Amino acid sequence: MSSNQAVYRRQWRLLWIFVLLFCAGRQVKADDAISFATRVAPLLQQQCVTCHDAELAEAGYRLDTYKHLVRLGDGSPAVIAEKPDKSKLFQVLIHEDENSRMPSESDPLPDTSINLIRNWIQQGAAFDGASEDQLLSSLLPKTEHPQPPKNYPAAIPLSAIAFHPSQSQLLVSGYHEITIWNLKGELVNRITNQGERTYAIDIHPTLPHVLTASGTPGVTGEVRIFNLSTGALASVLATADEVIMDARYSPDGNTIAVAMPDGSTRLIDSKTGSEKRQLLGHSDQVCSVSWHADGKRLATASRDHTAKIFDCQNGLSVATFTGHTKSVNDVAFVNHDQAVSVSDDGTAQLWNADNGKRMREMARNKTPILTLSIAPEKIAVSGALETQWFKRDGRQSIKRFTDSDAWTTITVFDSSGEIFAAGTQSGEIVVRQKEQEPIRFNAIPGR
Ligand code: HEC
Repeated sequence: MSSNQAVYRRQWRLLWIFVLLFCAGRQVKADDAISFATRVAPLLQQQCVTCHDAELAEAGYRLDTYKHLVRLGDGSPAVIAEKPDKSKLFQVLIHEDENSRMPSESDPLPDTSINLIRNWIQQGAAFDGASEDQLLSSLLPKTEHPQPPKNYPAAIPLSAIAFHPSQSQLLVSGYHEITIWNLKGELVNRITNQGERTYAIDIHPTLPHVLTASGTPGVTGEVRIFNLSTGALASVLATADEVIMDARYSPDGNTIAVAMPDGSTRLIDSKTGSEKRQLLGHSDQVCSVSWHADGKRLATASRDHTAKIFDCQNGLSVATFTGHTKSVNDVAFVNHDQAVSVSDDGTAQLWNADNGKRMREMARNKTPILTLSIAPEKIAVSGALETQWFKRDGRQSIKRFTDSDAWTTITVFDSSGEIFAAGTQSGEIVVRQKEQEPIRFNAIPGR
C-alpha cells in the first residue's frame, strides 16, 4: 500500500468518525435520555411489583429493585442493553398470547408506557438512582417542601392529631410540618418537609414510622412516611392532583389504606410501596378510611354522602350505608359487625357493617359533625358545637361538653382511652385526663 493510499484511508476513517459522532450527538438531543429513577421505576412499581416483589416473585422473577429486574429467576438476562426486542422485560409487554402478556390478568400497557420501556432499553438501560439495591418505591421523586415559618404569623385550623407511641406527646398538623408537643403544651419537636396542610397522621403499630396524608387544596396531595426518631423523610407513597384526606396503617402495619380524591381507596404495601389493590365504588372524594381490627375489612367515608365497607382480600364492597344526606366526614368500626359514621348533615349513625342497615341514630345536631374517635370503652363524636361521648355500643350517652367557641375539628384518645385530646379550628388543643381540669394550649409555634 502506498503511503498516499494509507493517508487517504485514514482521512476517510476520520470523516466517518465525525459523521457517526455528529449523528450520535443529534440522536441524544432529539430523544432525551430516559431516566430510570423518575420515569421507568414509577411505571414498573405501579404495574408490575405487586406480583414480582420479594414475597410473590411470580415465575421466580423480581422487579422490585434494578439489580433484580435485569435478571430472570433462572439468572439469564431480562434486559439486554440496546436490544429491546431481545429483552424479556420488553417482550412480555407486547406478547400476542394474552396469558403470557404482562401485566398478567389486565389490559396491555398503553403505547406510551410500552415505548418508554423500549426506548430506555434502546438507550442502554442505564441506572441513575443511588444504589441498584434500592427498592423502586424509594426512587419516587421526593419533592422538597418549603421550610415552615419559625413562628406562625396567624393561627391555623388543626386537621390531624395523633398520640406519640410514648403516649406522653401529641403529633399535630402544622403548616408544611408536623409539630410535636408534650401534654403541658410545650413544643418538643418539628418534622418538616411536609405538604402544606396535613389531614391525617398515623403511627406504625410497631416501627417508629409516621404516615401522613397532606396537600394543597385544588393543587396537589401526597402520602409520606417519616422516621419518627430522626424526622427524616423515608418515602413518598402516593401523589394526587387534590389533597389526600386520610391514610391508615392496617393493624399489622403491612398495608396502608389511602383515601384518594378520585373516590378510590388504594391499598399499598407499606414495605415495598407497591399497590396491592384499588377499592372502587365511591363517586366522590374519600374523606376517611378505618380498618377493622381483623385487618381484612376497611370502612370508607365519602363526600358522595355514603359510607362503605370493603373486603380487602377481594376488593369488593360488602355494604353501603346510605343513611346520610350530606358529605360523610368520618367512619369507624365499633365492634365486629357495627360501624359509626358522622356527617355534615349533623348526625352520627350506628349501622350494621354486614348489610349497611341503620341500627340507631346516635346524635342529631343542627351543625355538622366532623370527627369521631374510638377508645376501648367509648366513642367520641365532635363537631361544631360540642363533643359527645357514648358507650361503645352506641346506645348510651356518657357525657357531653363544649370545650371551645371554635369548632372541634379533630380528636384522639390515647391507647388506654384515659386521655382525650381535641383540636379546634382556631389552633387550640384541649387535653382531658380523667377528672382533672382540662389542659389547654395553642398548637401553633410562636403563639
Ligand atoms: C397479576 C400478577 C402479575 C403482574 C401485575 C405482572 N406479572 Fe409478570 N408474571 C406473572 C406470572 C403469573 C408470570 C408467570 C407467567 C407464565 O409462566 O406464563 C409472570 C411472568 C413474567 C415474566 C417472565 C419471567 C420468565 O422467567 O419467563 C416477565 C419478564 C414478567 N412477568 C414481567 C412483568 C412485567 C414487566 C410486569 C409489569 C408490566 C408484570 N410482569 C406484571 C404475574 C404478574
